[in-house]
This record gives sequence, C-alpha cells and structure tokens, in this order.
Amino acid sequence: MRSIIFTLLVLIAIVNCDLVKTTSCFENPTLTVDAVDVNPVIAKPGDNVTSIIKGTANKEVTGGKLTVEVFLRTIRLFAFTYDLCKIGTCPVTGPYTATVVQNVPKIALSGVYSTKNTAVDAAGNILSCVQFDFQVKK
Ligand SMILES: *[C@@H]1O[C@H](CO)[C@@H](O)[C@H](O)[C@H]1NC(C)=O
Repeated sequence: MRSIIFTLLVLIAIVNCDLVKTTSCFENPTLTVDAVDVNPVIAKPGDNVTSIIKGTANKEVTGGKLTVEVFLRTIRLFAFTYDLCKIGTCPVTGPYTATVVQNVPKIALSGVYSTKNTAVDAAGNILSCVQFDFQVKK
C-alpha cells in the first residue's frame, strides 16, 4: 500500500513539473542548483513565467543577488536582477528553494531563448551560475 501511494505521488510530481535541463557555468558553486521547474515552459508574450529553483547551499549565504540575462541566439536582450533574500529565505543554509516570477514582454518574438543565471554574494563573489533555455510561442 505504501509503495502504491509513493508511486502515485511520484507520478503526480512528474506530471506537475516542467523540469528544464540546466548546464552549470561556474565550478564548485556555493549554491548548487539541483532542479529548475519552469511554468509555463512554453510561454506566450505577456505571460508571467514562474521558475522554482531547488538546490543546496554548501556554505551559509546571508545575502546577495541573482542576475538573469536573456539571450536570443547570441544577442543579450534583457537582464533582470533579484534580491536573493526576496526570492528565497535568508540566511540560505542547506537545501533551499527560490522562486522567480518574471513577465515576458509583450513585444517578445517567438523562439528559443537562453538564460544565464548568476548569483553573487553581497561582496560580488559568484555563488552559482547555471544556463537553461525556455521557449516563447505566440
Ligand atoms: C502577471 O503578474 C502581474 C503582477 O503580479 C499581474 O498584474 C498580471 O496580471 C499578471 N499577468 C498574467 C498574464 O497573469
């Protein structure tokens, strides 16, 4: 019985998640990123896209910021900055979850966009860097 319930929970979790494939752009990060769930994974211009980032802090982080750079092919179109303590809970210790909600500009063109997400501490030291793609479709 217990294993049936567990299987159901796993299935529900899989159906509800749009886990995106991430690649790391910084070695030995203080904040590891284990999973990024993007909803909706195919956005329309004007949509609010919610990204839930789950990972682990290898050292206590008391504050800092996350910069999200958005590229279409090689052109940097947008950059958004978030306070780490507003998208997550400070101090960040052990397993953490951060939630970023970003509006897709109404003028956005259809296409596959890539993002570079860099977290730095208050002194500007890089804590983490991951890249992932998302799609905009009118
Ligand atoms: C996106 O979020 C903003 C601010 O919370 C809200 O005013 C707006 O209606 C939302 N747009 C959509 C398409 O959900």
